[in-house]
Amino acid sequence: MTSSFPPGFRWGVATSAFQIEGATTADGRGPSIWDTFATLPGAVAGGDTGEPAAEHYHRLPEDLALLTGLGVDAYRFSVSWPRVQPSGRGRPERRGLDFYRRLVEGLRDKGIEPFLTLYHWDLPQALEDEGGWRSRDTAERFAEYAVLVHEELGDVVDHWTTLNEPYPCAIAGYAEGRHAPGAREGHGALAAAHHLLLGHGLAVRAMRARATSGQRFGVVLNQSPALPVTRSDADIAAAERQDTLLRRQFTDPLFGGRYAPGLTTMFDGVSDFSFRHDGDLETIGQPLDYLGVNYYYRLHVADAPHREPDPARRTAADIGVDTTRLPDVPRTGMGWPVEPDGLTEALVGLHHRYPGLPPVYVTENGCVYPDIVDERGVFADEQRIAYLREHIEAARAAMAAGVDLRGYFCWSLLDNFEWAHGYKHRFGLVHVDYPTQRRTPRASYHWYRDHIAACRTA
Ligand code: FCB
Repeated sequence: MTSSFPPGFRWGVATSAFQIEGATTADGRGPSIWDTFATLPGAVAGGDTGEPAAEHYHRLPEDLALLTGLGVDAYRFSVSWPRVQPSGRGRPERRGLDFYRRLVEGLRDKGIEPFLTLYHWDLPQALEDEGGWRSRDTAERFAEYAVLVHEELGDVVDHWTTLNEPYPCAIAGYAEGRHAPGAREGHGALAAAHHLLLGHGLAVRAMRARATSGQRFGVVLNQSPALPVTRSDADIAAAERQDTLLRRQFTDPLFGGRYAPGLTTMFDGVSDFSFRHDGDLETIGQPLDYLGVNYYYRLHVADAPHREPDPARRTAADIGVDTTRLPDVPRTGMGWPVEPDGLTEALVGLHHRYPGLPPVYVTENGCVYPDIVDERGVFADEQRIAYLREHIEAARAAMAAGVDLRGYFCWSLLDNFEWAHGYKHRFGLVHVDYPTQRRTPRASYHWYRDHIAACRTA
């Protein structure tokens, strides 16, 4: 397996600010929508919040040492917008920026390439109070914030990702209410999806105008291919609706120069799409240097009645599908079906659908299983190792089928705050004991280290 990856293929790990940093009130940081959401009764399992997370903000040297020990080529992390602009606009908070400079310089010292993500879901609460992503103004604010960070860190960061997964931001956040800010809307959620894309385009255009030649700009999307559970016309149409909502709503304007066909019909009576302005499509479709694909599972879709019959009261998640009928395949500790060939399918499918697709990275892939600690105190996570091995193999198969894949990032370096699941589910290659903050590399950490080393010498 190792010899099939070309020299220069990047092996990495990924994290995000809110999930690991903790220190939610340190050094002038403002509240984000996740700080607010986590205080709502029942919003996050166990009543968990962004404290303590993995206290990464205060444990940077230790975590840099873990990255060095792993031998990764690249580290994907996100900048917390409310650490840099506590109220989402205006003068930067110097102490927040200094933290990211220390991080990035620390990475560079160790020869690790920083992949910076500007937005991994932690919108400043002050902007949500003015409408959040429903509002076009938030797209403008995002571009300003992007330029600010780019001006501050452009000398040490070459890989600039605008958004992580606009789909859950818009749909889980503004339609399903499962994620911050916890809204359940139709038009508002579709507007949020559009404004996230618009913010991305404005940010790329503005940063590129100021960029040096080595800098690269991209976006990260979650890609769960949707398979109909039967070959009936109804199930096939349901799978198409699911795919339009989750994938093509984003990939068509980004890489296909058009809005996803079918989206307006699906939401007839839900939204008039008046948030689309002339010129937006061109802004959104800025040429990109890479696409990041996050893959965890495939969706199996059956036709189902809408939960709300009246379109005017329907949320943008209510598209007449049932995604609970899973095939008889192994599941992770979160119940997600393990289907590595879904990763190949996602990558190859993008490659065929969009001829001008930029080079691709797998920017997240990983899993959760209950911890098994052996008699020597070792976290013997053989299931995670098998999961990673199979998915890396699936990524390699996509390359053999013509996909220009440049790297793979495992999610995640550390156990962390898994959004609405709180601290219950652990994705880390490194176990974190939250009360003591002791870090213990799991067997998968050692396996991944050896895998990376073997690829280098192959
Ligand atoms: C992705 C998110 C990431 C993490 C993984 C498990 O959707 O981008 O923050 O929570 O899922």
